[in-house]
This record gives sequence, C-alpha cells and structure tokens, in this order.
Amino acid sequence: MSENVRNGSRPDKHDLASLAFATQAVHGGNTTDSAGGAIRTPIVMANSYLLPDDPSEMDWSDTETLSYTRNSGFNQICLQTKLAALERGEDAAVFATGVAALHAVFFSLLKSGDHVVVGDVTYEAVWRLMAELLPEKYRIETTFVDMSDLEAVRAAMRPNTRLVHTEAIANPTTKVADVAAIAEIAHADGALVSIDSTFTPPPFFRPLELGVDLVIHSLTKYINGHGDSMGGVVIGSRRLVSRIKSEALVDVGGSISPFNAWLIMRGSVTLPLRLRQHFSSAEKVAAFLQTDPRVAYVYYPGLESHPQHEVAARQFRGRGYGGMMAFAVEGDPDTQNRFVSNLKIITSAVSLGHDESLIVHVAGEARGGSENYPELFQKYGHLRLSVGLEDPDDLIADLSAALDATFGTN
Ligand SMILES: Cc1ncc(COP(=O)(O)O)c(C=O)c1O
Repeated sequence: MSENVRNGSRPDKHDLASLAFATQAVHGGNTTDSAGGAIRTPIVMANSYLLPDDPSEMDWSDTETLSYTRNSGFNQICLQTKLAALERGEDAAVFATGVAALHAVFFSLLKSGDHVVVGDVTYEAVWRLMAELLPEKYRIETTFVDMSDLEAVRAAMRPNTRLVHTEAIANPTTKVADVAAIAEIAHADGALVSIDSTFTPPPFFRPLELGVDLVIHSLTKYINGHGDSMGGVVIGSRRLVSRIKSEALVDVGGSISPFNAWLIMRGSVTLPLRLRQHFSSAEKVAAFLQTDPRVAYVYYPGLESHPQHEVAARQFRGRGYGGMMAFAVEGDPDTQNRFVSNLKIITSAVSLGHDESLIVHVAGEARGGSENYPELFQKYGHLRLSVGLEDPDDLIADLSAALDATFGTN
C-alpha cells in the first residue's frame, strides 16, 4: 500500500499475507477514516490530490503516489491491496472493466510482429481483439489453439511467441485448461502466460501458484458478486504489474471509478461464502439437467461426462467445479427461447457470478469462434447458466416447471 494511504490499526499488506483467505476477504485493504475514525473505508471521489510543496521532482506517470486518479486513487489502492493478497500476487492493477484489464495486458506486453497463442474458446471481446483488432491494427500474429490438447499448444509455439493466453474454465463451453502444463510449455519457449480466471476466482483456484505470470479477472462477476458495478484486475509480479499500470493506466486510461472500487471491496467480503454456495448449487443443478430427457446436453466440469472432468478434478483439488454451465433443451432456437421465457426465478440476462441466477441463450453461429465449440453447441446453440445464490431446490423446480411448460409434463 502506498505511503500516503494509512492503514490505521488494520492488518498491513505484510500481515495480510499471513492471514487465512476468509480473514483477508473481510479485512484486506481496509482503512480507518483518518478524519472521523469511521471504521468503514471511506469513498474518496476526488480526481486529484494535494501536491508536495515542491512538485518539481514529481514523476507525473507515477502510479504509487496519489496525485491524479487516472494513475491511482485511494479506493483503487485499497482494492489492489486486497486483490493481490487474495490471489497471492505481489501487486494488482485495477481497471474500469474486465475487458480493459485484458486489453491492458495485451497492449502492454505485445508489439508489432509478436505472436500470441490463444485458447480457441474464449470470451467474445478477446476473440475479436485477437482475431481481428490486434492483427489488423498492430500486426500481432495470433494462433487459436485447443487448450485441452497440450501437443497442439506445444506445436503452436513459434520463436516470436511472447504470450500464451487462456481461460481456466472457458466461456461459454466450460472447456478446462491444464494451467500448470500450459505454463510449463510457454515458459520452455520463453513466453509469458496470462490466465483469465473470471470463472475460477480465489480461493477456488490460484493460477499464480502454478507458474502463471498474470491473472486477470472481470471483477464485474464473482468477485463483486452483486451485479451492481463493473471492474477488472490484473495480478502478478510487481515488475509486470507496474509496467501494465504505467503503460495502460497512465497512457491509455480505463481507470475504475472510486465508487465502483469501493462497491467491489464490499462485495468481495463474502466471496468465500458465496463461492461455496454457487459451486454446490451448480453441481446439483447440473446433475438434475443431465437426467432429464428433454435436455439435449449439459457441459459442466463437475459431471463425469465432461471431456476435461479428470483435469478439473486434479486441478481444482476437490474445491468444486465452478458455478457456470452450458446446456440446451431439445429443439430449435425458438424452443430454447420459449424455455427461457418460461423460467420464473432464473433471469434472462448477460453477465454471471451475480447473487441471482442468470441465463443467456446464444444461437449456434452467433459468436466469434463458435466453430470451435463442441458439435452439440453448433447443432442446438447453448444456454449459458450462471447458478446464483437462491436455494438450489427452487432453481431445480424452476427449470423443471419451465421444461414442463415448454414440452408438456415428462
Ligand atoms: C471470462 C470473461 N472474461 C472477461 C469478461 C469481460 O468482463 P467485463 O464485462 O467486466 O469487461 C467476461 C464478461 O462476461 C468474461 O465472461
């Protein structure tokens, strides 16, 4: 934490590392209001801070000293301190959105002529950045690879490969990457590894401990958890994060607002409790869907039928399999839509990791890279379900009633 953000009597950054995750989730990055002693961290909406008496020696691009909120701000530093501790990284850089954080990594680490290996199932904006925008605008070369095929990853590496980027559990198919093995392959060829861990937040999974260089989260999702703010983070070594801050925050912008940083601090207090509930409910919901003959398919890493179930079991070490799944009901896109409109508790909306369960219908061809999705996704399209914090029995009853309303009783 920067010198001018005092911790009062709270655990400082050094102490934080020695605390258990649940304690870090409650106390991490908190400060006491120095003016009135309020025990909740204040929201500081200022966009600039008092300069020293003699600012002639100031580094105007510095991201540690508080001077201008695009570079760094009080609430941003509090959140960065907390997130670095939760992910066990040296430092963190927070951004306005998850996509801003992802772009910050690519923009800072890559230059014209560099090559990137990317998972062939990836979040839509990353697909477009890697398939179109970065190659067209900056002559960055990209190869999309099936990250569950380690030989294919190895074969895709080139002398100019600077970065291997993948999602731990991929959006939307739930393909699972063997992160330690991918990091080993990338490092053997001198490339860095970045993991979008949005579906797999800590303490569930910590890719840095498996050798990954940078972890990215959309804070909009599980880490905030309440669907009421947007944010993104990059976590890793002080050296890499400081480069990302100085290039992508100071000179590109994309800084998070202090209010959103504060909301995410508050939302993340309950992260370990929420994840436990999300994941155990998801296992029950997936098991229900799998047994109903009106459901065409279910992809959830916790199901033995999932193609990477064994990798997931080994990698996530019994902590669960996430809260996200993809499935479809028997029938055409209109039938998928009818099924969704028959749901009464589960809400039809994008985003994920909120307290309420969310479902989104994506038709077969509607996404960049969908040709790489499993055949059943191409045949039926998919319904991406984010299992929320409602009672799982109510969710199962909602799905069951919607199936009855769509197809007639089973
Ligand atoms: C895996 C993944 N990464 C990144 C993002 C982008 O995050 P944001 O919407 O906060 O920009 C999303 C959004 O759905 C996502 O699912």
